[in-house]
Formats: sequence, C-alpha cells, structure tokens
Amino acid sequence: MKKLSLDRILQSQGFGTRKGCRALIEDGDVTVAGNAVTSYKAEFDPEGLEFTVFDELWIYRRHLYLALNKPANYECSRKPSHHPGVHTLLPEQFTWRDVQPVGRLDHDTTGLLLLSDDGDFIHAQSHPKHHQPKLYVATLAEAADQTLVDALLAGVKLIDEPAPIAAQHALLRDPTHIEIVIAEGKYHQVKRMLAAAGNHCAALERSRIGGLELAGLGLAPGEWRYLDEHDLARLNGA
Ligand code: URA
Repeated sequence: MKKLSLDRILQSQGFGTRKGCRALIEDGDVTVAGNAVTSYKAEFDPEGLEFTVFDELWIYRRHLYLALNKPANYECSRKPSHHPGVHTLLPEQFTWRDVQPVGRLDHDTTGLLLLSDDGDFIHAQSHPKHHQPKLYVATLAEAADQTLVDALLAGVKLIDEPAPIAAQHALLRDPTHIEIVIAEGKYHQVKRMLAAAGNHCAALERSRIGGLELAGLGLAPGEWRYLDEHDLARLNGA
C-alpha cells in the first residue's frame, strides 16, 4: 500500500483531527512498530501497521467490521432519545470513524448487531434485495402451539404491507420460545408478525445473521469484537 504520513494514518483510524493527531505525535504519545515517533511527517506503509497511542496497541484497519452483542436498553440511532446509543459500547475512535449499525435493532432487542464504516458493506448487507436471513428467538407472552408456527410460515398480513409476509423458518423451542427466520428487516417486523399471528413478543434476541452465529463469537452482552475473514465468509453463507 502507498506510504502515508503518520498524522494521516492516525486520523484515518479515528484519533481526531489532523491537528489533534499531530499533537499526539509531537507529544511523544505514539509509537510505531515499537519505536517512538515524534515527527508527524514520518511515512509508513499502513497495511498491517502496528502502533500504540497512550500505550494502547492498535493495528491499522482500512475499514472496521464489528460484531456487538447488543444488550437491552441501548438504541441503534446515532442520536438516541431515551437510552444510550450502541456506539457508547465501542472505543470512541470508532465514532470518529463514523461506524454505523448495519440495520437496526429495537432498543429492547438484544443480540447480534453488525457495525461498520464501509458504506458498500452496509449497503450490501442491509439492502432488501440481499435477502440476508436473520434468526431471532422470541420469548412469547402467551404459550403457543404449532398453530402459531403454521401461521408464520403461511404468511401474516401486516398493516401497510401490500402482501402477507411469511417467515422463512419458524420452530417452537418450547411453548414460550419461538425461532423465526426473516429476510426482509421491516420496521418491528418480528414483533408485528407475532402480533398479527395472535401472540405478543415479550423479549427478542437476534442470534444469527446469514451463517454467522452470535453463540460462536464468544461475546457477553455489551461486548464487541472485530470480524475476521472467516466470520465475514460465514456471514455470507460460506
Ligand atoms: N424485529 C423486531 O420486531 N424488532 C427488532 O429489533 C428486530 C426485528
């Protein structure tokens, strides 16, 4: 990759304005590959570059691809109104990089949330035509039987939707827990489908997107991690 000056590299990684990055470097707060660097004009190939800022180790990443185990009572909106935003669970450098959730979960929905600063990735993952299947596990307010599953698989009519919407998969794990796979990602879709089928969603967790399982990521609620190439391949069904 083309060499870049250290202030530009730090800025691209979310360490503030160019002026702020220069100050960090000149104050001796930055090392590169183990060596202190105090000239912001020093140039490096950013690819795979390891650097520290205030003794914290970072690796240059052109784009960020993250998975977060979203806890309840966090909002996906950039300007949350009633609860903290999910971005408060991430390093502040990621906010500087304009990391955004890939689609949204309701404030009370928990589980797998992807975030990125790669507009093409966000667009591809969230575009309705992509039909990325998402598995949710809903806790039901009322005990259900196969009738609910059959109704969801047959398709339910939602207000404002011209045609009935069917789950790709639905399975009762026990009378008050149902797995449901949807591909569309419409507003409050799972909750509205359950209500249209005559039940009510008491709690909702997203546990899989494409082939990427929350359970395999080792994330406690509120924790995040970088997605590696294997995770990204799983996401796309490999
Ligand atoms: N469906 C919902 O109703 N809520 C979510 O957060 C996600 C899917």
